[in-house]
Amino acid sequence: MKETLRYLAGIVGPSGYGSKSTAEQVARSCSYLVDSQRLTAIITGATSGIGAETARAVAKRGVRVVIPARDIKKAAELKERIRKDNPNAEVILCEIDLSSLASVKRFCNEFLALGLPLNILINNAGIFSQKLEFSEDKFEMTFATNYLGHYLLTEMLIEKMIETAEQTGIQGRIINLSSVIHSWVGRDCFHFNQMLHPINYNGTRAYAQSKLATILHAKEIAKQLKAKNANVTINAVHPGIVKTGIFRAHKGFITGKNLHILGASTSCYVALSPQVEGMSGKYFVDCNESNCSVLANDESEARRLWRQTRALIRRRLYQTPC
Ligand SMILES: NC(=O)c1ccc[n+]([C@@H]2O[C@H](COP(=O)([O-])OP(=O)(O)OC[C@H]3O[C@@H](n4cnc5c(N)ncnc54)[C@H](OP(=O)(O)O)[C@@H]3O)[C@@H](O)[C@H]2O)c1
Repeated sequence: MKETLRYLAGIVGPSGYGSKSTAEQVARSCSYLVDSQRLTAIITGATSGIGAETARAVAKRGVRVVIPARDIKKAAELKERIRKDNPNAEVILCEIDLSSLASVKRFCNEFLALGLPLNILINNAGIFSQKLEFSEDKFEMTFATNYLGHYLLTEMLIEKMIETAEQTGIQGRIINLSSVIHSWVGRDCFHFNQMLHPINYNGTRAYAQSKLATILHAKEIAKQLKAKNANVTINAVHPGIVKTGIFRAHKGFITGKNLHILGASTSCYVALSPQVEGMSGKYFVDCNESNCSVLANDESEARRLWRQTRALIRRRLYQTPC
């Protein structure tokens, strides 16, 4: 209740930001970090909504932005908008379909071949589908897009991020877009094989499961990075409830009245703020650290999910047991 009131009133938290802080305000106040060195960020799902605003705000501060998109025409339009805002902005477009493991692998190889550094990875793309659909790998589409694709993307790019951080001394940061809806998932409906191949599909449940998976992913990878002593962090964020394309098929799910057309500020905060230096495996809401559900905090669940995903991807992609 207190949190809802704080959100609606836009009261700032300990970070000095709140639900009404804009991405541009946040990115501007973090400019010492951005302007001092040239950073490179990959932002998925930047062709609309929160990702587009995140890309615009960070590009305005001089960050080189790589936009992997399934719709290159839409991505080119965004590039044009970004360049209008900042004619010096460097924006690189590539193709990706996050629901396809082969496509994610292709994109990563293409990006790595460019020989660019990688400081920031924002795993932002997402879908919320009322209809049961399957990806080309024959996995439920929401889980495949929101979680599996980003798992592989992170896995294939993490060494590049560790190497960049070593060479530049600048901490690498990975941000997983989650949702407060993750807390709707109970232990009894978080089973890997059922999420891949659901029997009684429910769109809201599938979305919530995928968003819980992105927090667990952040928790487990944060542990692994720490064990390696890598100067790279990974955190999860809830961007707020924002009226974007993701609700296009959900008339009545939310109304436009109390919504702020914001949402990119928390991603920008976690990607750029010096206040977040060294924080890893955390969950942020409205630019402040927050609490996620008990299940999202369960380390053994995070480990199990990571193991199961790794084994699945090895089998699918490399045809080798893990
Ligand atoms: N909006 C909210 O209130 C809210 C709340 C909590 C969490 N979130 C999370 O915030 C993130 C951004 O959501 P949004 O509200 O900005 O949604 P959005 O406007 O619908 O944007 C989603 C983005 O993901 C991309 N995408 C979807 N499927 C893809 C695929 N298979 N391959 C590559 N890209 C794909 C879309 O590309 P196309 O342009 O090609 O469709 C689009 O750029 C999501 O992870 C969402 O779960 C949003």
